[in-house]
Amino acid sequence: MSRLAVLISGNGSNLQAIIDAVAAGRLPAQIAVVVSNRREAFGLVRAERAGIPTLYFPFKPYRDAGRPREAYDADLAERVSGYAPDLVVLAGWMHILSPVFLARFRGRVLNLHPALPGQFPGIHSIRRAYEAYQRGEIAQTGVMVHWAVPEVDAGAVVAQAEVPIFPDDTLADLEARVHQTEHRLLVDAIRSVLRGT
Ligand code: GAR
Repeated sequence: MSRLAVLISGNGSNLQAIIDAVAAGRLPAQIAVVVSNRREAFGLVRAERAGIPTLYFPFKPYRDAGRPREAYDADLAERVSGYAPDLVVLAGWMHILSPVFLARFRGRVLNLHPALPGQFPGIHSIRRAYEAYQRGEIAQTGVMVHWAVPEVDAGAVVAQAEVPIFPDDTLADLEARVHQTEHRLLVDAIRSVLRGT
């Protein structure tokens, strides 16, 4: 059984999609640990409810001590390594990981991004896509799952899906449609990657 480490920073609806897929036998994997860099992340509650080990590991103490991101990333990698994951899944993980972390799990870190390849990297991607649509700059948006590289929300694409935007959409409508699509795409991408390992 493949072991997953899922890194989150917030609501954890994508984590929930993984939890549900595992529970339903749709994903031949085990979630070894859920890591959050934010204490208030609801995803931690989801993990606890599912009986999954959790790790809250914030960057703030490092920043307050004047220590670099690389020190945090190295310690994070060490802690995550202890759970012996076959795959590390960044599912709404809002901390840019330096090569120190990525080197430790070379070719085994998947990232979910709520936009199409090359579009709206970083934060507020869905809102930026919505605003770009209002300005007539894009006709649709999408989501992608890709191998993580030091560059934010870039790297070889494992799976992608288009998400339509309709003229009457509110931002909340678009967010809901994007999330629905990512819940399916992320599980499919993890399954296809695990099949290939
Ligand atoms: C998701 O939309 C994910 O694609 C995005 O954060 C959200 C987390 O939602 N990630 C990024 O923006 C990475 N650049 P969730 O906590 O409900 O899974």
